[in-house]
Amino acid sequence: MARTLTDRPITCNWGILTAILLAVSLQIFLFSSSSPGVLQIPPPSSVLPAPSNGRLQEVIKLGEGLLKQPEDVAVDRTGVVYTATRDGWIKRLLRNGTWESWRQIESTSLLGLTITTDGAVVVCDAEQGLLEVSEEGVRVLVSHVDGAQIRFADDVVGSSDGTLYFSVASAKHSYGDWPRDMVEDKPHGQLLTYDPSSNVASVLLEDLGFANGVALSANEDYVVVCETWKYRCLKYWVKGDVKGQTEILIDNLPGAPDNVKLAPDGSFWIALLEIVPNRLRFVCGSRAFKYLIRGIPKLGHWVVGAYNRAMVVNVGSDGKIIRGFDDPTGKVMAFVTSALEFEGHLYLGSLHTDFVGKLPL
Ligand SMILES: *[C@@H]1O[C@H](CO)[C@@H](O)[C@H](O)[C@H]1NC(C)=O
Repeated sequence: MARTLTDRPITCNWGILTAILLAVSLQIFLFSSSSPGVLQIPPPSSVLPAPSNGRLQEVIKLGEGLLKQPEDVAVDRTGVVYTATRDGWIKRLLRNGTWESWRQIESTSLLGLTITTDGAVVVCDAEQGLLEVSEEGVRVLVSHVDGAQIRFADDVVGSSDGTLYFSVASAKHSYGDWPRDMVEDKPHGQLLTYDPSSNVASVLLEDLGFANGVALSANEDYVVVCETWKYRCLKYWVKGDVKGQTEILIDNLPGAPDNVKLAPDGSFWIALLEIVPNRLRFVCGSRAFKYLIRGIPKLGHWVVGAYNRAMVVNVGSDGKIIRGFDDPTGKVMAFVTSALEFEGHLYLGSLHTDFVGKLPL
């Protein structure tokens, strides 16, 4: 996610405390009851997979020290694993165990990436749109939709016919401004598609609560798109009689979903962020707090507990949680944003590590 929930952990300092006091005072003295808002924060989940198992503390650290906040991971047909880092590198793990610094892009906001059928890497850049990275170099693949610049491309997946599906976390706010999106009364996330034959991008879904991870089902008949602020992931049908319809794959997740990936058995791995639900509810229910966060977005970081925790869940195509792994204290892995299953292992991306975690399944 909010991959942008990045940078550094927020320590509770006097500035924040003062701001909270100010918000509470404003709330009491200036405004009447809390604003209803449109953002519906779900109740605490009843579907926690299991008690904490600490399995994410057992990861092998790949490329430790070489990878600055590797938010997402992808694997190509030959088994080479790719990631995009905060310093603008696309780095890849060759089959012989060596990390190669492959291509550098002038960007601090590279997010989700995927490998197309013809072997190119397509990566989301939260400033420019979708970039295509290949042996020939880097080019902007998609930068506009309906005449407007795409600002906060977040994750992308490709189908076997070359069509791309990608998310725009917020059509209104930029990468560093995610707290402002959180306190909007109306969600601004989108699911888009790009047709390489016509070179045109179009919007499939709007009004998503921070559109984050995207994945295609095993038959490529629906796209899963995760809504971080809503603790849920949707299914958007792209084939068959129900084409164009949307339903919920899973809601009430035990964390705020970030990236989602298809597993070899047709289920999905979803990385969950600790966005503290009570704080999120409080912030979004308080007109005064919303007003403050619009002015000082950094205050919104208060809702993020992801630096002290990590969790991933495996969800069946029927929307049932099959299993989950966590690091309850963030001792080894915190802020896990991505989980890719490949050859019996999970590869875990994070906005708070300098390595990719590898966990035997
Ligand atoms: C792995 O392969 C790369 C590219 O062929 C090579 O540069 C590197 O030295 C190899 N590493 C090892 C440990 O063999």
